[in-house]
Amino acid sequence: MNAPVQLDHAEIAATTPLDKLDVSDPALFRDDVWYPYFRRLRRDAPVHYCAESMFGPYWSITTYKDIVQAELAHKVFSSDSSLGGITIRDRQKDLRLPMFIAMDPPRHDEQRKAVQPIVAPGNLAKLEHIIRARVCEILDELPRNETFNWVDKVSIELTVSMLATLFDLPQEDRRKLSYWSDCATALPMPGGIIENEAQREAAFAEMLAYFTTLWNARVNAEPRPDLVSMLAHAPATRDMSPREFMGNLVLLIVGGNDTTRNSISGGMLFLNQFPEEYAKLRANPALIETMVPEIIRYQTPLSHMRRTATADVEFAGQKIRAGDKVVMWYISGNRDDTAIEEPDRFIIDRPRPRQHLSFGFGIHRCVGNRLAEMQLKILWEEILKRFDRIEVVGPEQRVYSTFVHGITELPVRIPG
Ligand code: HEM
Repeated sequence: MNAPVQLDHAEIAATTPLDKLDVSDPALFRDDVWYPYFRRLRRDAPVHYCAESMFGPYWSITTYKDIVQAELAHKVFSSDSSLGGITIRDRQKDLRLPMFIAMDPPRHDEQRKAVQPIVAPGNLAKLEHIIRARVCEILDELPRNETFNWVDKVSIELTVSMLATLFDLPQEDRRKLSYWSDCATALPMPGGIIENEAQREAAFAEMLAYFTTLWNARVNAEPRPDLVSMLAHAPATRDMSPREFMGNLVLLIVGGNDTTRNSISGGMLFLNQFPEEYAKLRANPALIETMVPEIIRYQTPLSHMRRTATADVEFAGQKIRAGDKVVMWYISGNRDDTAIEEPDRFIIDRPRPRQHLSFGFGIHRCVGNRLAEMQLKILWEEILKRFDRIEVVGPEQRVYSTFVHGITELPVRIPG
């Protein structure tokens, strides 16, 4: 039998003519071989046009500084779903969901305000107790001396449990949230989570029915600090159409789910890949504070956000035309050594750990960033109290996606 051919990605990235370089292939992320391609773009064509790809033609913005500039230029680089939205993949017009991440001001700003109180300091303090209790429960149930999938038993469990808390829905329904989130981001393919768009729409309809029941109960009750009640009472969202309600639900579920989940998985993997950092952490648990943002940078749970040019514009020396698709590659900006020292190393005590692009920048910067950081912080505090080491004992499996940068399987073992 022939051995599988090992591609030399450094060689391919260095020798492919620039106009043929396509960094959007989901296999690059599934196989974790994207690094040299983005390194080449940052060096030779930081704002780069790819004429042909499985997602059609698109521009890539790959350096830290240019991504920040593009985020700030939100008048000319639109997020609006009717122009194409926020991911490299275009959605059929009738399947596009309105949600505030895929809107421009002023509607964006008004709707964002509706959910902002979820991360008000008082609410975060309340959530901290609930999250800590759940983390303790999850960690105390983990098996010893036995290989298990960290993603399933910890990353998913903890994230959906927090989301159920944010929506104030019964904990026994929490896995529905991860199912709907997976349906929202999956690429339709045979044997996949969804095989076609009809299955995705069916999952969304089920989600809408579920949440409409909650909405109806809360809209006539006193306002409460949960996301459904906030949407039902805020002036900017209380008269939403069912489709807009569905869109914003997808935003909040996906926004809080895949991203935090993959940071939890990534952290475990990185500490095993960099044992000297794991040793530093065990010696000084106070480093959790700077480690958490470093995990989020190093993982970069969303590889990119997309915009659409609303006018012809000259950007970093390139002529971008009205209607062009523009992709801001956070995954590349976070490895840009002109902005971050030794970016390919995971270093848990960086002096400025929050200098990264994983949460975006500008008017759409992640609403849930403090919540995500809090969850990771509590998790690592409780892990260090309980376990001397958790060992990764096999190769990880990664998500086939150009958008969600994630891990589906991470075999680990807790000695003891
Ligand atoms: C490590 C975890 C997370 C990462 C890496 C992340 C990443 C992002 C990114 C990249 C954006 C778009 C930023 C831009 O376009 O400039 C975003 C927006 C958003 N995120 Fe997060 N996110 C995380 C956790 C959460 C959590 C826990 C929630 C809460 C439920 C959340 C809710 C949102 C919402 C509502 C938006 C839309 C903001 C807007 O358009 O104004 N995210 N997030």
